[in-house]
Order: sequence, then C-alpha cells, then structure tokens
Amino acid sequence: AVERTLSIIKPDATKRNLTGAIAKKFEDAGLRIVAAKRIQLTPEQAGKFYEVHKDRPFFGELRDFMASGPVVVQVLEGENAIAKNREVMGATNPKDAAEGTIRKEFAQSVGENSVHGSDAAETAKEEIAFFFSGLELVG
Ligand code: CMP
Repeated sequence: AVERTLSIIKPDATKRNLTGAIAKKFEDAGLRIVAAKRIQLTPEQAGKFYEVHKDRPFFGELRDFMASGPVVVQVLEGENAIAKNREVMGATNPKDAAEGTIRKEFAQSVGENSVHGSDAAETAKEEIAFFFSGLELVG
C-alpha cells in the first residue's frame, strides 16, 4: 500500500551539508518528498517528540543533540514507505548498518546517526502531525 512516513535529517547531517545527498537516497529508492522544512527545535520540542524514550539513559543527550542545530523534517510517500525508509536508513547504530545505507555512509555514532524515520504506521501518523498540517502535504 502507498504509505507516508516522517523523516528527520538530524543536526550532525545538516551541519555537514548532507541534506541533498540524503534526500537523493530517498528519491532514488522511489520515495517522494511530499513535504519538507528546515527548522531548529527547542530542547522542549525535541523532548516532546522523543517522549517515548524519556526514561532511557540517553534521553537527555538525545534531546539536547536534536536541538543543537537545524533539522530538515520531511514526509516521504511511496509503496511501503515506512519499511522502505528504514531500509534506506540502515540500522540505528552505524556499526551495524548495511553497505550503501545512509547511516553506513554518513552517520558518526548511535546518537549522531544522521536520520530518524518513523517505525510503524501509527507512529508515522503521529509524527507527521507533530510537524505538518494537512495543507503542507503536497502529493
Ligand atoms: P532515532 O531513530 O532517532 O530514535 C531514537 C534515537 O535515540 C535513535 O535514533 C538514536 O539516535 C538514539 N539512541 C539510541 N540509542 C542511543 C544511545 N545508546 N546513546 C545515544 N543515543 C541513542
């Protein structure tokens, strides 16, 4: 089925001018960028986005890193977009990421791992609504 998923290009990647290279990976995989914006999150906003991880030991580090510089949030659309995006991103830890994936090529560590992508249909819906209104999605 055609799905939509939320992608975040993280501060480590925007700082190194990797926005275009990462977007090209999505497009080459057949994912259409139907919404995009570059923003800087406050620590409060970043903490709210990652609220499910609030009890994890790395939560504070994750929140502060995500607020440390600009991010590019995008909605990707395509056949099986959620799984396809996860495939293109590669494993969370770049050490485990497969050859050719975004995290293998660009990520610096498990925390500074260049991209976030929704993990399931329900979270995709919530994460898209966190950043975008329906009017901003242009298929
Ligand atoms: P992401 O897909 O954005 O979802 C949660 C993030 O937490 C994950 O990618 C990692 O960047 C981050 N994360 C997971 N484990 C660790 C860790 N051990 N230390 C720091 N950050 C982590």
